[in-house]
Amino acid sequence: MSTYLGLDFSTQQLKILATNNDLEVLTEVFVQFDTDLQEYKTKGGVHIHEDQLTVTAPTEMWVKALDLVLEKLQKQDFDFSNVAAISGTGQQHGSVYWKNGSSKILENLDSSQMLHEQLKDCFSIKNSPIWMDSSTTAECKHLEDRVGGAQSLSDISGSRAYERFTGNQIRKVFVNQKQDYDNTERISLVSSFAASLLLGKYAPIDHSDGSGMNLLDIRQKKWSQQCLDACGEDLASKLGSPVPSATNLGPISSYFVTKYGFKADCQIVAFTGDNPASLAGCRLQRGDVVVSLGTSDTLLLWLDEPLPSLEGHIFINPIDDDAYMALLCFKNGSLTRERFRDQFSSGSWEKFSDQLRTTPAGNDGNLGIFFDVMEITPAIEGQYRFDFNDRMVKSFLPAQEIRSLIEGQFLAKRYHAEKLGYQLGPHTRVLATGGASRNQEILQVLSDVFQSPVYTLDTLNSACLGCAYRAKHGISGNTSFSEVFRNPANYKLAARPKDVDYDVDRYGRVENSLFNIV
Ligand code: XUL
Repeated sequence: MSTYLGLDFSTQQLKILATNNDLEVLTEVFVQFDTDLQEYKTKGGVHIHEDQLTVTAPTEMWVKALDLVLEKLQKQDFDFSNVAAISGTGQQHGSVYWKNGSSKILENLDSSQMLHEQLKDCFSIKNSPIWMDSSTTAECKHLEDRVGGAQSLSDISGSRAYERFTGNQIRKVFVNQKQDYDNTERISLVSSFAASLLLGKYAPIDHSDGSGMNLLDIRQKKWSQQCLDACGEDLASKLGSPVPSATNLGPISSYFVTKYGFKADCQIVAFTGDNPASLAGCRLQRGDVVVSLGTSDTLLLWLDEPLPSLEGHIFINPIDDDAYMALLCFKNGSLTRERFRDQFSSGSWEKFSDQLRTTPAGNDGNLGIFFDVMEITPAIEGQYRFDFNDRMVKSFLPAQEIRSLIEGQFLAKRYHAEKLGYQLGPHTRVLATGGASRNQEILQVLSDVFQSPVYTLDTLNSACLGCAYRAKHGISGNTSFSEVFRNPANYKLAARPKDVDYDVDRYGRVENSLFNIV
């Protein structure tokens, strides 16, 4: 009769999802920050500051949301006494600063009061910097300089310095708010902060979310002293030691036992970041790649041997501590596809599909790279068309335009995935999600470019669900993640690769040549 809970502290809401022992969803509820917690005056769950670069969220709002979401679940007559384990996830990179002396308060919570009433004075920084913040360019440069350059930092931590990555955010506090920094006994990520609330003591940072800080040595699985020294003083003790993502942290705080009726031995399994949690929710296996086709396109990859690069991020794998995962973001996704549909397919997806169907795989050598807005992977903007001789041309026929866009987008994904150490193999499965994954012809191109079968899957709740899975895994002793499931994953085969050969090296050469043009 055991049940499991997954919590997701995401940017706009806190969601909670319950599964039964077979990991089937029983119920879910959420608290929307802007509407359910209007007193914090957030828009989209955040405050964008006047400089437009600084973006924070009120830490106390997240605390209050936890009681609210559990009260909502209670109103559904949910039986908390069956919950065997809880895990969760948070938006990556955001940080929480616990004031000196707060651990005592956290360890002695009074169930007759709300959490936020008791913890409101526990944060030395009241507004947590979050992943949308891009105010730390100087701190990024400082960190890269201190460790010998961007590639050296990536070799250590899995990513070059990024403004939103927590080490750079911590340094900003250290430099500009030294008193507050000194008055901080613990720094948590959003994920480990949320776990701390449930645990009633400081929860460690897990390896996978910890990889999004520019501080963790992803091979040693320890903080890099060089990186710590570049970002603050006495940082190791403020961060605590990181732990594998499947670690069972111990029983739930008595606050929740008394207030909601959880059993005293309900276990809290380490929380992790939302992208790692999605990887778990998609039940990714060795060799798989998730291609999410949305406003921006995202790739999640399973990696055994990572090759950190100046693009993309490598994290320790959340479901297998000996493996890695990569996250690649491509900003020009659906909006560019829609612009092409309007420009070359008379605004019709049917015509767009028809044009893909009637043009040959490989597009007779016509290759397009279209970055309507400054791309993340790679940092280039503009429209580039090359004929079969790699000569730049101004335009293609309309149907070739469509095919060159879709092939170009997928070749970029394959090229950058391989650059990070991903290898296509006979067992590779491409798992497609997001709006464009409903288009059969787009999926056929994806399958052809990756020379692998493409499956579709519903990932509406993948992060939350992934945490319910992780909760069960975390208390299952030495069983592997895939062993906690009885049922096969709900993937639908959508396309099989045609026998075609794409020249990924050529794509790489052409893309690299753009750096000399722009
Ligand atoms: C990943 C990132 C975002 C947040 C969103 O690097 O910054 O995906 O995790 O919640």
